[in-house]
Amino acid sequence: MPKYIPEPFRIKMVEPIRLISRKDREAAIKKAGYNLFGIRAEDVFIDLLTDSGTGAMSQNQWAAIMQGDESYAGARSFYRLKEIIDQIFGFKFFVPTHQGRAAENILANILIKPGLYIPNNMHFDTTEGNIRARGGEPVNLIADIAYDPSKRTDFKGNMDIDKLGSFIKEKGVENIPFGMITITNNAGGGQPVSMGNLRQVSDVYKEHGIPFFIDACRFAENAYFIKLREPGYADKTPIEIAKEMFSLADGATISAKKDGIVNIGGFLGINDEGMFDRVRNELILREGFPTYGGLAGRDLDAMAVGFMEALEEPYLEYRLGQTAYFGEKLLEEGIPIIEPPGAHAIYIDALQLLSHIPQAQYPAQALTIAMYIEGGIRGIEIGSVAFGYIDPDTGEEILPKLDLVRMAIPRRVYTQSHLDYVVEILSKIAKNNKKLQGYKIISQPPLMRHFTAKFNPL
Ligand code: F0G
Repeated sequence: MPKYIPEPFRIKMVEPIRLISRKDREAAIKKAGYNLFGIRAEDVFIDLLTDSGTGAMSQNQWAAIMQGDESYAGARSFYRLKEIIDQIFGFKFFVPTHQGRAAENILANILIKPGLYIPNNMHFDTTEGNIRARGGEPVNLIADIAYDPSKRTDFKGNMDIDKLGSFIKEKGVENIPFGMITITNNAGGGQPVSMGNLRQVSDVYKEHGIPFFIDACRFAENAYFIKLREPGYADKTPIEIAKEMFSLADGATISAKKDGIVNIGGFLGINDEGMFDRVRNELILREGFPTYGGLAGRDLDAMAVGFMEALEEPYLEYRLGQTAYFGEKLLEEGIPIIEPPGAHAIYIDALQLLSHIPQAQYPAQALTIAMYIEGGIRGIEIGSVAFGYIDPDTGEEILPKLDLVRMAIPRRVYTQSHLDYVVEILSKIAKNNKKLQGYKIISQPPLMRHFTAKFNPL
């Protein structure tokens, strides 16, 4: 068998991309205030900004779209989705939502009051935002190894069970309305969580009567890591593994824009009937009737097919293989990344690659700009700009532990030669790394500053 299997599909529809001239790239990034979010997509050659909503749908998904039932209530599309959700996730109840953060918003709205705490291995920024928006306090209890980029372990997304136990003791069960875990851990390198850890987390929450929700955007990729790496799972199918993961939880929030391989969609799954009644009322108020929840009927059909395709073994083998190939190639070129490679993205350690740029001058931001100017590549800064903030009391800037550039890989979109090109450009940047300089922020909003901040080169 080859080390990395080729794409288990062939291409029958193409979307042209173009590399504009270097002069035009320099002008475009300057005009965007040196923020990659401000660039027009048509001026990007290889877009690795996100793997969310950017996947390529299959012929079966497009065919399913043609069968969408747009009835307001009780549409066939809803029941087709329900059948798939029952098979994979097994929650007693669910509501479709237009994307992941809508599910998070509903959950936060019905369960969070000011001063309450929500533990997680690591919260993603929308989860964190939704919790804070209700006055709650998101808490990250991941095992410490997650903060050591070059250390390899099989399940670097695992929660630290001791930390979780002491946290519950310290804050009191009455102050924790629900607990979470994120699979795979997007904020910490896209690293998987083991079944063993999920079971322990579930036991701790259960012992204290704390409802347990999984942030399950990348559940299929997590399931395949379990199959490959965890003893006892080699002969199980990804669906069996997924079903076992979700049997440990009381519910899940899901953005189907990742492992649903759709451009829009998500759902909130839940077992508790009383809680579900409140979820449904909130959904009707903000998203739509419970059999479509903010989506078109056709979107539900595309999602149903996508969830199943994301669990096909040849697809998962290719998907994890493609990312591993990309990560190992970068390491061969001496580019420091979070190791081992995850499934949906590769994260470059900018503090190490650009060690001459002080963290307060945003090395990861400088790298995203260089990647665009050198090769028309769009990555995303998830470091000092995204997670740093100005303390409102002292006016001092608080910076996070890691300063990373994430290159997310859309599903079924780019080929190996696209990734080889990215490696080549990064290798060129790394060889001349001392030429890169830092940036300063010239304008920023008080929250979620990475989307709209503007910069100047120093
Ligand atoms: N949870 C995780 C772990 C995520 O990665 C995302 C989205 C969400 C929740 C929210 O889902 O976007 O459908 O509302 N992540 C995207 C990304 C945006 O680029 O990583 P959403």
